[in-house]
This record gives sequence, C-alpha cells and structure tokens, in this order.
Amino acid sequence: MKPDIIINKEKKHIIKICRSPKMFKKELYIYQKKLPFTPRLLDHDGKNTLMLEYIDGIPIGELMQPDFSKIAEMYVILHSLELKKGKCICHYDNNPKNYIFSDQKYYMIDFSDWKYAPPETDLIHFLLFWASIYDKVKFEKAFRKFIDSYTKKGTINPVEWEFFIPEVIKRFDNRRKKFEKTEKNPDILINRETLKNIY
Ligand SMILES: Nc1ncnc2c1ncn2[C@@H]1O[C@H](COP(=O)(O)OP(=O)(O)OP(=O)(O)O)[C@@H](O)[C@H]1O
Ligand SMILES: [Mg+2]
Repeated sequence: MKPDIIINKEKKHIIKICRSPKMFKKELYIYQKKLPFTPRLLDHDGKNTLMLEYIDGIPIGELMQPDFSKIAEMYVILHSLELKKGKCICHYDNNPKNYIFSDQKYYMIDFSDWKYAPPETDLIHFLLFWASIYDKVKFEKAFRKFIDSYTKKGTINPVEWEFFIPEVIKRFDNRRKKFEKTEKNPDILINRETLKNIY
C-alpha cells in the first residue's frame, strides 16, 4: 500500500498521509531536524499526516547532468547528524525520484525508510541506481565526482566499502524484482565493477 500524497501547487504545500505510525514517526524525526536540503515541515497531526513545503522542481533522474558533488554534500550532512558505532542516519530509499532539483538547489525527500546503517551502504545503494542507467563513461564520471565530493568532508572506509557491496547489490536487485524492473543497461556489470574502485 502506497502513502497518499496530495499536492497543492498553488498553496505550495503537499500533504503526505503515511500508511503506518512508524513511517510517520520516521519522516517527522528527520523533518524536525530542519536540514538545509529537506522541504520545510509546515504542520503535522501527530498521527499519520504531514504537511510539507512543495518543492517545484525536477527529479534528478530526469536531469541531463545532475551535480553529483552537490548531491554528495547532502549525504555528508545527513550522515554526520548522529553516529553510533559506525552507523549513521541513512536515507536508505535512494531512488532518484527522492531527490529534486529546484532553483539551483538539491533536495532530499521521503524519509519513511531511513535507518541507522553504515554510511557506505547508503552511498553504494545510491550509486547502484546510476549504474543501472548510465553508460560506463558517464557512470565513471558520476562515481568519481560523487566520491571526491563526499570524502572532502565525510569519511569512507574502503574495507567496509568493499565488504558491503555484495549485500547492497542483493538489496538493490531484490527491490528491482519486487517492482518488476528488468535491467536493460549493457554496461551494468562494468559499472558495478567500477563501483569497487574506491581507492
Ligand atoms: N515536498 C515535496 N515537494 C515536491 N514533490 C514532492 C514532495 N514530496 C513528495 N513529492 C512528490 O511525490 C512523490 C511521492 O512522495 P514520497 O517519495 O514522499 O512518497 P513514496 O512513499 O516514495 O511514494 P512513491 O512510491 O510514489 O515514491 C515524490 O516522488 C515526488 O514526486
Ligand atoms: Mg519516494
């Protein structure tokens, strides 16, 4: 069951009715932190409904050339909010639909699935979507930009990176199966190899 989203462009807000109290609490937890890259929380009912600022923009999957450096900067901020034994707040649902470009700014939305997990898993999962879309040249460029930018202020442990790739690929592929998406990109395997070159 999907949550209900009511978009009111005129009033510049959206109403998200969450399908469970757990999902609601997760979203609220992040939006109450007032991060510079999340829509503003305008109201909520304490149960299952949130009112958020409407971001009038384009999902990054529809951009010719998303700025992967700027997107990585959002992850650095998110991941540095809380650190517990190598785990941090991870967005987890890293689908390109959950990142919007508007007015020269990038936004992250949809925190219904966030989890405490190693930061590397969030970054790998995000990159896997692009490994399924981009050809090898474009992917390599995006990968480098993303990693170079993230590591300016954030830390990636190369051992954890290598260790987590297989299980994150499994999670990604299971999700694709669930949504009945078939992989059509001839460069997907090369891209997934590129992903290993974190050093
Ligand atoms: N604050 C917002 N500003 C602009 N568009 C939004 C906003 N919140 C949600 N949307 C739009 O509604 C869609 C669904 O919202 P959201 O991602 O929060 O729910 P979801 O649980 O992932 O549902 P879905 O499975 O349809 O993506 C988003 O992909 C985006 O297009
Ligand atoms: Mg979503």
